[in-house]
Amino acid sequence: LRPSTARRYSQQKLERPTFGIAFDIDGVILRGHTPIGGSPQALKRLYFEDGTLKIPFLFLTNGGGIPESKRASELSKLLGVHISALQVVQGHSPFRELVNRYKNELIIAVGKGEPAAVMSDYGFKKVLSIDEYASYFSDIDPLSQYKIWGPKHRLDTSSNPTELHPEYDVLKDRVRGAFVVSDSVDWGRDIQVLCDILRSGGLPGKENGDQPPLYFASDDLEYQAAFPSERLGMGAFRIALECVFNRVHGNPLKYTSFGKPNPSVFKNAEAIMNQLQSSISRNSRIMNGGIKEQYPLKTIYMIGDNPSVDINGARKAGHPWFSILTRTGVFRGKENHAQFPADLVVDTVEDGIDYILQKEY
Ligand code: G3P
Ligand code: MG
Repeated sequence: LRPSTARRYSQQKLERPTFGIAFDIDGVILRGHTPIGGSPQALKRLYFEDGTLKIPFLFLTNGGGIPESKRASELSKLLGVHISALQVVQGHSPFRELVNRYKNELIIAVGKGEPAAVMSDYGFKKVLSIDEYASYFSDIDPLSQYKIWGPKHRLDTSSNPTELHPEYDVLKDRVRGAFVVSDSVDWGRDIQVLCDILRSGGLPGKENGDQPPLYFASDDLEYQAAFPSERLGMGAFRIALECVFNRVHGNPLKYTSFGKPNPSVFKNAEAIMNQLQSSISRNSRIMNGGIKEQYPLKTIYMIGDNPSVDINGARKAGHPWFSILTRTGVFRGKENHAQFPADLVVDTVEDGIDYILQKEY
C-alpha cells in the first residue's frame, strides 16, 4: 500500500468494513493444491495483525467433495491464514436445504472425496456413496475386474457390502434421490449405475419407474486445475450422462444444477458476508466500547477466472456485486471477455486485492 493509503487504512481499522470479497478457488487461489497469483500474501492483508478477520470474505467455489469444515482446515494450512467453515461455500453447499425432503429415505452421493460424508454432515440420514451402493449389486459394472486402481478404491468395493451398513436393505430400498456432489471418478461406472437407478425408479435391475430427482452441485463444463489446459468438469459429466440416458430411456433426463452462476448462490454469499461483517463490527464495538449501527455491505467483489461462471453470475446478481476477472485460470485474454465482460480485468488475485484496498481506503 502507498503510505497515505496505509495511514487511512490503519485509521479506519476499527470501523465496520463496508465491502466484502468472494474468491473463486480453482484458477484464482489455487491450481491443484498449489497457491497461485500471490494468494497467501494477498489474503493476509484481510486480517488484523492478531490473525482475526478484518474484511469479510469467503470462498465461493463450484468445487467440493469434502465437508466445509474440512475444506476450511485444508485451505487454512495451504494459505497460512485462519479460515472458518462459514467462509467456505462449495457447489454442493445448497444441498443442505433439501434435507427435509428426504427424511429417512435412501439417497446416493456421487463424486470424488467423501460425498456421503458431505451429505451426512448436512443432516441426510440414509446416504450411500455410489461406490458403496454399486458394491451391493454383483455384476452391475461388467468392467470392474479390469479396473486396477488405487488400494483405497479396491478396499471400498471389495469389502462385504452388508458390513458397510447392516441396517440398510439396499436391494429392496428404493433410491429416492441422486446427488452429484463432486466430479465423478469413474464416469463409465457412474453413468451405468445412475442410468440403472434413474430409469428403474430407484431399484436397479427391476421394473422401470418414475425417475427419482437428480441434483448436480454445479454445471462447469471446464475448470482450471494443475494441468496447463482446462479439465472437463461436472457439466461435461452431466452432458455425457444426459446423452446416454436420453438414448437408453424414453423420457429425457430431468435434473437440477446448483452452483455459480445461479443468482441464489450469490444471494446466499451476500447474506453470509453480511453476517461476517456483523461479527467483525461486534468485535470492534467491544474494542471501542461504543455502539455502531449495522448496515449491509455496499460493495461485494467477486474475483474469478471463469467468465461464463464467475463473472456471468456476479453480473446477473446485480447490486452490490462488482466483478474482477483474473488471467490465472480459464480466462487468458489480453482485453476483457467479449460475452461476459467483467467490471475489471487483472493479472492475478493479488492485483485484484491491491485495487480493492486502494479503492476502499
Ligand atoms: O471442480 C471445480 C470446478 O468446477 C470449479 O471450481 O473454484 O473455479 O469454482 P472453482
Ligand atoms: Mg475457477
